[in-house]
Amino acid sequence: MPRKILVTSALPYANGSIHIGHLVEYIQTDIWVRFQKQRGHECYYVCADDAHGTPIMLRAEKENITPEELISRVNTEHQQDFADFAIEFDNYYSTHSKENQYFANFIYKNLAAGGHIERRTVRQFYDPAKEMFLPDRFIRGECPHCGAKDQYGDSCEECSKTYNPTELKNPISAVSGTTPVEKDSEHLFVNLANFTEMLQEWTKILQPAVLNKLSEWLESGLQAWDISRDAPYFGFEIPDEPGKYFYVWLDAPIGYMASFKNLCDNKNMNFDDFWAADSQAEVYHFIGKDITYFHCLFWPAMLSGAGLRTPTSVFVHGFLKVDGQKMSKTRGTFINARTYLNHLNPTYLRYYFAAKLSNGVEDVDLNLEDFLQRVNADLVGKFVNIASRCAGFITKRFDGQLAAELADKELYQQFIAAGNSIADAYENRDYNRAVRETMALADRANQYIDEHKPWILVKQEGSEAELHAVCSQGLNLFRVLMGYLAPILPILTEEVGKFLNTPITWQPEALIGHKINKFKPLLKRVEQKQIDAMIDASKETLVATPVEKPVENIADTISYDDFAKVDLRIAKIVKAEHVEEAKKLLKLTLDIGEDKHRTVFAGIKEAYQPEQLTGRLTVMVANLAPRKMRFGLSEGMVLAAGPGKKDLWILNPDDGAEPGMKVK
Ligand code: 2FM
Ligand code: ZN
Repeated sequence: MPRKILVTSALPYANGSIHIGHLVEYIQTDIWVRFQKQRGHECYYVCADDAHGTPIMLRAEKENITPEELISRVNTEHQQDFADFAIEFDNYYSTHSKENQYFANFIYKNLAAGGHIERRTVRQFYDPAKEMFLPDRFIRGECPHCGAKDQYGDSCEECSKTYNPTELKNPISAVSGTTPVEKDSEHLFVNLANFTEMLQEWTKILQPAVLNKLSEWLESGLQAWDISRDAPYFGFEIPDEPGKYFYVWLDAPIGYMASFKNLCDNKNMNFDDFWAADSQAEVYHFIGKDITYFHCLFWPAMLSGAGLRTPTSVFVHGFLKVDGQKMSKTRGTFINARTYLNHLNPTYLRYYFAAKLSNGVEDVDLNLEDFLQRVNADLVGKFVNIASRCAGFITKRFDGQLAAELADKELYQQFIAAGNSIADAYENRDYNRAVRETMALADRANQYIDEHKPWILVKQEGSEAELHAVCSQGLNLFRVLMGYLAPILPILTEEVGKFLNTPITWQPEALIGHKINKFKPLLKRVEQKQIDAMIDASKETLVATPVEKPVENIADTISYDDFAKVDLRIAKIVKAEHVEEAKKLLKLTLDIGEDKHRTVFAGIKEAYQPEQLTGRLTVMVANLAPRKMRFGLSEGMVLAAGPGKKDLWILNPDDGAEPGMKVK
């Protein structure tokens, strides 16, 4: 019986790029969905951008655009990244949608009618200059425990202690740079404790490690959850509460439903089949362990309070590490999806993540040496090699026609039978087992070819039929294995389908007397220099890197189109200041015309005193995405040349240049 299944991945924020850390989850989910679809189930995969909240509002303001413009631009970028990694959503939407507003209101009103909403006065930091309450992350100050400077309002990066923002010493608003004041405001809360019993029951379905963590929280008593934020806020205004908005985390998970509703409306499907309280369909959310609380306590409580069904399960995974460590911008291991794609084939990463993923919550380590080794040895050298070893002979000697009979039916049957255990591994998200078992079969197929030696048969007179039989057998085995790897390797599967001139399916009947197409190499080996180039491109630098290497070592070039994307502008340095504690940085305030000012942190302190710079014109990259640095937001890059340190010169345009002029 086909099952009805709805699957989601966490919604990425609409103010940042997709990186390889995100991709662990999207690849994990996409594999599971493709597997379910391949097995004939009615399965839908929906997602959306998480578009609300203060960071998005402020980011748009900085870029001088509306939040709507920002989220629309980022949505396009995200969808392109996903498509290029063959992550195939049935719908990709946004939480800033009419469907989401409808469901947010619906759930809120039902919670209120059920007596689950209460009001409380909250004392918070307020920025009088910006006239807004400040989220914890937008307050900086000295850690109340160890005294470390420039720490966030919720936790200290030096001593890892957490605290209330009001405990910070010398707090500063990261939005305006002024000192915030404490102010009271009335907020709305969901009384989560009302759902304790329901959650104690519901959480039993979760992974043991997740359940453990949740039991601790449940036993220590659930705190009421603050779901409102005061204007100005980019989000949905709460019905009958002028000036109050739903906190982004209230409408984020509702975005799963909204995206699905949008799909139902486009495809004429029945939404209630999946979301009504008595729904027989299955609903699964794939998430990272950091957002367990939201998905395994708040979300089921909200659904149940609103009279809707709760998720069938939530599948939690760990974080991505690179070479055993947290992703890092200085080490170049904080790799954006697009940077990866500029250097490497997405099939490699899908394969590697699958080979490492289990159904546990342990972190996944992308070990770059192991990545190269496994992709080359297993995927290219072992799996794809089966086809390379057989296909040429079929094309050249037998006009692309496979033999009329299968040479070793028993071996073929063994391959088919192994599919049950592999299916079980996929179903349980034990992808590393699915890969291991499939690769053991690939070894067996290669062994078959080694035993029959087609390269010798081709030279022996009278061995024509045997050569035909062996290569046809090899290609049939290869086809079965491609079916098993299809959820992981959709791009390769498509190519193989074209080459074998047949759909790739799970546990197929053998191909007999079938005509295949000419074989083209299916997948290249990874080269170390591609990985090195990707890491280099991911390293964060402060000024245009001075040319330190001899020119002939710079192998990579960029296209004219890439170059044309760079918006170079004349900028006037209206202020240059020292940055306390930074050895190399100066903080520059740049006038780029039309009364626009930008702050840029430039690594030129050894070459210039601030007073030498004030009033001078220079050239800046004006459309570089802003980057958060320890000292503040850097909104561009100033161009300089020279070997570095003292010998570094910022570019000085000729007289007559005006701030804001484009540099050609
Ligand atoms: O942590 C995050 O990146 C959130 N944007 C995830 C939201 S998932 C869901 F609840 F919308
Ligand atoms: Zn501290």
